[in-house]
Amino acid sequence: MSHLHQPVFDTAALPDLVDALVEQGWFVGEGFLDAELCQALCQELTDMAERDALAAAGIGRGDEHQLRRDIRGDAIRWLDRESLAQRRYLDAMGDLQHELNQALFLGLFEYEAHFAHYPPGAFYKRHLDSFRGRANRVVSTVGYLNAGWPADGGGEMAIFAADAPEREVVRVRPEAGNFACFLAETVPHEVLPTRLPRASIAGWFRRNASLGGLVDPAR
Ligand code: OGA
Ligand code: MN
Repeated sequence: MSHLHQPVFDTAALPDLVDALVEQGWFVGEGFLDAELCQALCQELTDMAERDALAAAGIGRGDEHQLRRDIRGDAIRWLDRESLAQRRYLDAMGDLQHELNQALFLGLFEYEAHFAHYPPGAFYKRHLDSFRGRANRVVSTVGYLNAGWPADGGGEMAIFAADAPEREVVRVRPEAGNFACFLAETVPHEVLPTRLPRASIAGWFRRNASLGGLVDPAR
């Protein structure tokens, strides 16, 4: 049944999500996100790709930002709450932020997310989303938007063990509704080459950058 107020994610899976983050540093939920919302977001991203409203994604922040097609081949656009679908997704991630702070005292402070479109052949080599001590991304999320992804479509996200970065621990199919959540500073992951246009939303819960600085210096 079509319903605007269906929950965006499967709240019954939250205890598992919290436990998995604590015990292994990552969580993968199949069918975690509402199917209709994924469809609306996928349509929005497909329209953006057709309108040329996406920007080639780079690596590094600020002055260090550079385009490296040999490392990542997606095109992105930051969510800005301009559509109902975006607002629903971002509000739900706000709820998740609250849950994580309640359960784990993470002090997550804000959430940022971008649409990502991987054209056929694109990939994103193994990386971390944040470097300890430098950036302030604490927990990463990826929501997948392509309904009916075929078994031979490629484009899986491989997650590697935090303490053994050569050891793959899980592979996530980019099927609509699937959702991954992991520690941004310690869990290596990569996007395998996709055979079909691939749509996802990558997002990060951040800690206030100034918390590690001089806001409240010891006396
Ligand atoms: C990222 C990323 C994974 C994915 O954007 O940093 O790792 O499956 N994305 O889209
Ligand atoms: Mn990443």
